[in-house]
Amino acid sequence: MVRVAPSTKKQRSSKQLIQLTAVASVVLMAIVSVWLFASSLASRTETTKTRASLLKGMREGAGATPAKASQDGHTVLNVSATQMIQTGRPYLLYGTAWKADETAALVSQALHAGFRFIDTACQPKHYNEAGVGEGWNDAASKLGLQRSDIFLQTKFTSINGQDPNNIPYDKTAPLEEQVKQSFQKSLENLRTDYIDSLVLHSPLKTMDDTLRVWKVFESFVSDGKVRQLGISNMYNYRDLRTLYQKATIKPAVLQNRFHDQTKYDVKLREICNAYGIKYQSFWTLTAPSNRKAMGSSTWKAMAEEKGLTPQTLMYAYMMSLGHTPLDGSKSVTHMKEDIDLVTRFQNQEQLLSDAEIDTLSGILGIH
Ligand SMILES: NC(=O)c1ccc[n+]([C@@H]2O[C@H](COP(=O)([O-])OP(=O)(O)OC[C@H]3O[C@@H](n4cnc5c(N)ncnc54)[C@H](OP(=O)(O)O)[C@@H]3O)[C@@H](O)[C@H]2O)c1
Ligand SMILES: *[C@@H]1O[C@H](CO)[C@@H](O)[C@H](O)[C@H]1NC(C)=O
Repeated sequence: MVRVAPSTKKQRSSKQLIQLTAVASVVLMAIVSVWLFASSLASRTETTKTRASLLKGMREGAGATPAKASQDGHTVLNVSATQMIQTGRPYLLYGTAWKADETAALVSQALHAGFRFIDTACQPKHYNEAGVGEGWNDAASKLGLQRSDIFLQTKFTSINGQDPNNIPYDKTAPLEEQVKQSFQKSLENLRTDYIDSLVLHSPLKTMDDTLRVWKVFESFVSDGKVRQLGISNMYNYRDLRTLYQKATIKPAVLQNRFHDQTKYDVKLREICNAYGIKYQSFWTLTAPSNRKAMGSSTWKAMAEEKGLTPQTLMYAYMMSLGHTPLDGSKSVTHMKEDIDLVTRFQNQEQLLSDAEIDTLSGILGIH
């Protein structure tokens, strides 16, 4: 839809901004090329590797981003999930836990705000997966989006993660059958014939059982019903290494709680970088250690200086490291603030310098 409106100051200045951005990206590309060359010579730490691959992704994905300023001063981002994956620029994943009857409306609001990646689970105890299906369909028809513009991630939750009175599969069936039934339920709930990302909610009691589930997951990929696989709540790096080594189809995602109690998964995130696994964080804003960091005066000052809130600065920190935070906001204001941040990344703004990233790591206690 093309909206014709009289030229305003805002539009003129946004034209200048586009020109400026074009010049800036040429300069940036030159800097990045030199930097990539230099850094390929130097011995690199895992952290710089993340930054290099992130910048590489940004460099490869040239082209303007269709983001417009809306009446309330927030950006309206209409970039498909596929485009965001292709350019390798950072984004946020909308989380749908604990939304019960509000799930459909909130998912629709999130898509209206510009979220294109959605995380859910076939776990009625915490997620209303059918509400997610209703919400994305509603938004897609209103926004003119195709299924392929949206990225749907769901999970298989084993019996010990389910409410005993509301298990979405036959608990007496063999494990393999439980996985198939759960997956079938997810397709129905989400009103789709494929899942972009299927995640195992937690490792099972033994690695053998985890691998049994993984085998079934792999069959879904072979059948063209799933695009990629992932694992969640795996806090032991040896387990991730074992899974990676034994899997035919390698994990593409690790979704973990990001906080001090697990030393911020430093070792795991190194392995993720080395193996090309995307690290997705939850508890990013709510973990006590993270709340404390966001409350520090240095954190707050840096946020203000960059036109961010302490919360969006936390997301910016994660995204600058190439990670994908889950964002389960129920507030339309926060959704818009968060999409403003995604827009800045999609427009290839380098929000944080390496020194600033190090400062924030220091406040979190990551060394
Ligand atoms: N794999 C697992 O085992 C697992 C476990 C837990 C969660 N998850 C996933 O992770 C998602 C996120 O959960 P979470 O535990 O990280 O917490 P969350 O649900 O994202 O909670 C974020 C909290 O921060 C507040 N907030 C303040 N400023 C915000 C801003 N700018 N943007 C967003 N929130 C802001 C929110 O309040 P407002 O609502 O007022 O914005 C909310 O209270 C879940 O929905 C779920 O999909 C997965
Ligand atoms: C958003 O983008 C899609 C293509 O990804 C397009 O079909 C649709 O018309 C756009 N919607 C708006 C509101 O600009």
